[in-house]
Amino acid sequence: MLQMERYYAERVGEMKGSDIRDAFKLTEEPGIISFAGGFPAPESFPIPLIERLLQGLFREDYSGLQYGPTEGLEELRQEIAGKMQVDGIPCMAANILVTNGSQQALDLISKVMLDPGDCVLVEQPGYIGGLNAIGNYQGRRIGIPMDEEGLRIDIMANRLKEMASKDQHPKFLYTVANFQNPTGVTLSANRRQELLQLAREYDFLILEDNPYGLISFGQEAIPHIKAMDDEGRVIYMGSFSKILTPGVRVGWIAATEPLIRQLAIAKQGTDLCSSSLGMKLVLESMLSGELEPHIDSLRILYRRRRDAMLHALSSYMPTEVQWTRPQGGFFIWLRLPSYIDTKAMLPFAVAEEKVAYVSGKGFHVDGSGQNTIRLAYSEASEAEIEEGIRRLSRVIRRWIEAAM
Ligand SMILES: Cc1ncc(COP(=O)(O)O)c(C=O)c1O
Repeated sequence: MLQMERYYAERVGEMKGSDIRDAFKLTEEPGIISFAGGFPAPESFPIPLIERLLQGLFREDYSGLQYGPTEGLEELRQEIAGKMQVDGIPCMAANILVTNGSQQALDLISKVMLDPGDCVLVEQPGYIGGLNAIGNYQGRRIGIPMDEEGLRIDIMANRLKEMASKDQHPKFLYTVANFQNPTGVTLSANRRQELLQLAREYDFLILEDNPYGLISFGQEAIPHIKAMDDEGRVIYMGSFSKILTPGVRVGWIAATEPLIRQLAIAKQGTDLCSSSLGMKLVLESMLSGELEPHIDSLRILYRRRRDAMLHALSSYMPTEVQWTRPQGGFFIWLRLPSYIDTKAMLPFAVAEEKVAYVSGKGFHVDGSGQNTIRLAYSEASEAEIEEGIRRLSRVIRRWIEAAM
């Protein structure tokens, strides 16, 4: 057999599988309560709506079965642009590129922007899929710490000054500003302004990835960073995965027209166009008037699950453990005492207590975070959340006691 590695490109050395995918394997055993995958609740998929839309899809035309324009179906681009305008972002169809999920948006932007060794600022902890997309194009990821208000802009400012003194200039900063994956934290309004100010001062772009923004639990929405931007410095990414279904694989990029044209050229080489069927389904769901009420029902569902998890955490966790209190999205972030290695603990959690999570280390570009955990409350029922947290607390207690 040929040793295929001999033929690989140098950049393959930077490609890393995701810890989340590894954790999935552990959750396949029966009886496991898993907080590992950040999947939407399958029972939340609007099946009757999707069935009806699919049935009606081919009555008038067959475009859902044909190749489509690389930039996306024109009508869908218009609808998305209309939504962006409602969110305070001046936007036309020409500013929208429909992508195969926002994961492809991250890949295409990295493909167009990054030369090997280019510096990119990332959240630490940050979304693994984003970190990997940047790594795949050999971007040098520089982690900026987070707290309860999101990115530590003060630390970022110092870092930028230090980098400038060595003639290092980041191409962009990547942020999930609303209900972040993995921490659930939201970047405060003041810090959004300060971030934009820094981006202007040091001349880098901002990638604002917002798949969870509409899954909010009541608090007033903070304006998008892109809504504060008047020079095209912010590239915005959205997705239908969490508000309709990830199976349609439809996301989008909102950016300046010249950048959209360049990204579309990059996309041609990747997949010619996004799935026409997926795009048609999304378009029809937007036109049906039923998407908004569906999103309202998702807010209620996930809010209940968030509440159940917060309640169980405060009932069962030992005092040494701290966690975030998200105002939306799918995730809660746990910090354990520094001497606990959550990756080493995971097989015991699965074998002894039948509960799974994702160790936080993989979300850190500097290899730290070994004592952290990401919990998703999106997929488990309220009863499972209560029981799963009770089990996890028992494992953590045992590990703390064993380390004493
Ligand atoms: C922050 C973030 N960005 C992007 C994605 C990719 O989403 P999709 O490609 O399904 O739109 C995810 C998926 O979980 C995510 O959490």
